[in-house]
Amino acid sequence: MDITSSTDIQSELTEQELRLGLDPDLMPHHVAIIMDGNGRWASARGLPRIAGHREGLSAIREVLNFFDELNIPLLTIYAFSHENWNRPRAEISLLMTLLDQFLKKERQTFQDRKMRFLPIGRLHALPDAVQALVHEIANETAHFTDRVLTVALSYGGRSEILDAVNDIVDDSRSGKVSSPITEEQFEQYLTTAELPDPDLLIRTSGETRISNFLLWQIAYTELYFTKVLWPDFRRREVLLALLDYQKRERRFGRVTQTASP
Ligand code: IPE
Ligand code: IPE
Ligand code: MG
Repeated sequence: MDITSSTDIQSELTEQELRLGLDPDLMPHHVAIIMDGNGRWASARGLPRIAGHREGLSAIREVLNFFDELNIPLLTIYAFSHENWNRPRAEISLLMTLLDQFLKKERQTFQDRKMRFLPIGRLHALPDAVQALVHEIANETAHFTDRVLTVALSYGGRSEILDAVNDIVDDSRSGKVSSPITEEQFEQYLTTAELPDPDLLIRTSGETRISNFLLWQIAYTELYFTKVLWPDFRRREVLLALLDYQKRERRFGRVTQTASP
């Protein structure tokens, strides 16, 4: 699979020029991001991995601001996977501290932007204080519907699907649902029940895998892989991803209108 890199022509264009190339009618509604490469960004500079995570937060702020400007209403970010619990204790603990600081700092921003903070994942696995803060901010922003920042924390696509299956089994025992379950009904049991599927999924850092993210939801999502490490994924990189997305033809299994049989 090709990893997208900016073409020679694009590399000479200014941010403003790139932006002019965007078609406002083809903007994605929902973008999901696997923010990868923080550790490598730090190692390349002889810094501890946590320095990369800190710089990664700065990239999140910049991308959030830019999405606001571009009127892209739904952003879903993979912040901590189910499998990330297998990292060294010290890194996990520093990551949880950073998450706590980030949420405290951004708490007011959610209100100012009228943005919903929607955490997904097995949140009960998070440290108590972080868990409480996550729930508080989720509750106090739950009434905002126009813009949503979904943050996957202690998230795994397989465990999400399994949790849904187990809930369906419970509900069928009590007669709330009965087989056959439709796709629409199944989706109501996922943590993303209120969101449409992502139009575009971006993964940074050159890895071309999904790492257990949104397995059900990305069935027809356009995938964009870039070698850029997450802390370096700034406004210009957002534009390159969007321009690439706008070149795609989303067929959903159909054929192009003009194709001969
Ligand atoms: C992504 O960066 C952040 C998290 C997974 C929490 P990494 O920490 O995976 O950085 P690399 O992939 O080791 O460079
Ligand atoms: C995926 O990155 C998870 C997040 C970005 C939170 P990882 O760095 O954990 O994924 P792998 O291990 O390279 O697949
Ligand atoms: Mg990684």
